[in-house]
Amino acid sequence: MRMGLPAIIGGKPVREEPYPKWPVYDSREEELLIAALRSGKWSVGGKFQEEFERKFAEFQDAKHALLCASGTVALKIALKAMGLNPGDEVIVPAYTFIATATSALDLGLKVVYADIDPETYTIDPESARRTVTDKTKAIIPVHVAGRPADMDALTDLAEEKSLMILEDAAQAHGAEWKERRVGAIGDAGIFSFYQSKNITCGEGGAVTTNIDEIADKVWSLRNVGRPREGPWYEHRIYGWNYRITEFQAAVLIAQLEKAPKLMEKREKGARILDKLLSEIEGVTPLSRDKRITRHAYHLYIFKYDKSEFAGLPKRKFVEALQAEGIPCNAGYRPLYDYPFLPQNKPLPNVERASREEAVWIPQYVLLSEEEDLEDVQKAIQKIKKHAAEIPR
Ligand SMILES: Cc1ncc(COP(=O)(O)O)c(C=O)c1O
Repeated sequence: MRMGLPAIIGGKPVREEPYPKWPVYDSREEELLIAALRSGKWSVGGKFQEEFERKFAEFQDAKHALLCASGTVALKIALKAMGLNPGDEVIVPAYTFIATATSALDLGLKVVYADIDPETYTIDPESARRTVTDKTKAIIPVHVAGRPADMDALTDLAEEKSLMILEDAAQAHGAEWKERRVGAIGDAGIFSFYQSKNITCGEGGAVTTNIDEIADKVWSLRNVGRPREGPWYEHRIYGWNYRITEFQAAVLIAQLEKAPKLMEKREKGARILDKLLSEIEGVTPLSRDKRITRHAYHLYIFKYDKSEFAGLPKRKFVEALQAEGIPCNAGYRPLYDYPFLPQNKPLPNVERASREEAVWIPQYVLLSEEEDLEDVQKAIQKIKKHAAEIPR
């Protein structure tokens, strides 16, 4: 074995120990789970869901938070509760998780793609503006990686064109735009509690809003169209069973208690990585808008420039970095790549981000210590030094 070679071509990996495990839990999750079990109320009528909804609404600066089965169905019932009807158009960035679009398509809405800002990878408000027609009813900005989209420009656009805003905050628990937490800056917002997320119970979702009618409608839609008050077999609107269990809500209460400390730790880790990666020509941390007073860092994203790496394509670079023991991936493909989704001409910034530039590091890496983060720098430096030797 030649010393100092990248692991992908037979060298020793920079790192053999794992980064911190995710999800994290302790006796508090155990205690609340057992309490839910012993309560004998495992779904409707239990106290854990209400408690979490109250606390999470407060945490996100929203009047209401309503739990449901996943972030995906949260998007669907939020759009429905906002009054969107088949044929209405919604603007979605083409760089997002597939559910941002499929939830709208499920309701018979027409999805229209907008490009992203090349510096932040969140929806470009000017591109969104260019797609508005007289059928456009809503915009779904996605706070990708936990970084709030430009809510000032989007709010102005929405006011000017009479559009509604649904924030896809699936990755943005606790994130803030100008000191206001995301989720109810627009008409409504959604969150995911999937097991990779910064607050998790395995699977779960929530809708947040300040608007009472939307909250009531979401309550009913997730509960098979039942009214809040009324007999069990009364169904006033068409709905679904998208409820969550008390076990999940119990775990979420414990996770929410842990969230502030973990958020601090991720911010600290991200600042360290920003500095370490800035020292390498050819990788650039995404820039941070001053109006973002808190970034949730569900992902740490940096830009890769293959011209500094002997032309090594991004996918190969990502494989090489993984081989060094650094958790990372290449992130989203453009939504219009999928043949079963609406097609579109290539959007330049979505193309560059997804195919050439964006490298994602998962949030739990940021929960490690400075010397662990230095391994990310070392691994990239090593790959760079030997980039020409790595087969394409
Ligand atoms: C941006 C975005 N939107 C929506 C979702 C859907 O959430 P879930 O996986 O809970 O259905 C996710 C999560 O994967 C996401 O990252």
